[in-house]
Amino acid sequence: MAQVICFGLLVADCVTATVDTLPERGTLAIVDRVELHVGGCAANTAIALAKLGLSAGIIGGVGADGLGDFVLGAVAGAGVDVRGVKRFANVPTAATTVCVHSDAERTFLHVPGANARFVASDADWSVIDGAGVFHIAGAQLMGALERENGIAAVAEEAKRRGMTVTLDTVMNPESLGWQALAPALPFVDWMLPSEPEAATLTGETDLSRQAEAFRTAGAKNVAIKRGAAGCAVFPDSGAPFTVPPLSVAALDTLGAGDAWVAGFLLGLVRGLPAPETARFANAVGAFAVTGYGATTMIRTEAETLAFLNRMI
Ligand SMILES: Nc1ncnc2c1ncn2[C@@H]1O[C@H](COP(=O)(O)OP(=O)(O)OP(=O)(O)O)[C@@H](O)[C@H]1O
Ligand SMILES: [Mg+2]
Repeated sequence: MAQVICFGLLVADCVTATVDTLPERGTLAIVDRVELHVGGCAANTAIALAKLGLSAGIIGGVGADGLGDFVLGAVAGAGVDVRGVKRFANVPTAATTVCVHSDAERTFLHVPGANARFVASDADWSVIDGAGVFHIAGAQLMGALERENGIAAVAEEAKRRGMTVTLDTVMNPESLGWQALAPALPFVDWMLPSEPEAATLTGETDLSRQAEAFRTAGAKNVAIKRGAAGCAVFPDSGAPFTVPPLSVAALDTLGAGDAWVAGFLLGLVRGLPAPETARFANAVGAFAVTGYGATTMIRTEAETLAFLNRMI
């Protein structure tokens, strides 16, 4: 039985390094490495949860293609229940070509593929199986779902089934943004965006105003990820607070937010108070940035707690 269900993006990331300029049109350039990794925030968070030691399931879509085989195999191999992943014929698996530049900055070329086809009626609710937390991740890249007001439909159904509903966002300039998100917020217990996403969605630059916008639209609690600045929490009851990051040598911040969310969801599953939940989330985020790949460096719950206790 899964404790947490992640709903949303599954992506194949093709990471190419090092790319500073594209080769001249029609020519070939030799690079240091081309690697295939799992990406997409629902997949990353589900894998991170499994590495922490929770049981996780995933609902989303991939194509009936080789990249779909790869993503499904890797997510299942991490111990995540993939029965809720729908395979779409004649639709590609979502994929990103990630060009890594020599200063570690990245440029992305993305095919939305199956993620953009998935609609609310594609969700197989039979795999929920008594899960306590339902996490919606990256719906801003699910075009068909956004257009049918499906983010709200999925959040409402999860709430109706008695689950704690959480929601993380991604940047997509073509997303319907606030228009598609706002109707879902009355069903969201914890809104978990990054600061740039919160700014884009709400049009506010100030953290408190961002949280206020989400809460006025119906979200119960808000926690905003702030990269190397840690996080800010705006709970339903009690005063807002910030939690500083753990000091680590950051090597690769890709997927840090997805790892942080896994840590936060663990706190919710364990019934921890919000400050402890946010501290644990920061520790998982800090682990994630110390190595390459979104989930490579994630440790078990006990190892993460031991790390956290050593740092304070
Ligand atoms: N350099 C860092 N040092 C320590 N902790 C970090 C660092 N970068 C990120 N973190 C931790 O990870 C959390 C999530 O990072 P971030 O705010 O970059 O998420 P995000 O923007 O959603 O990332 P992504 O969507 O790329 O996964 C932060 O709140 C922080 O706790
Ligand atoms: Mg993120």
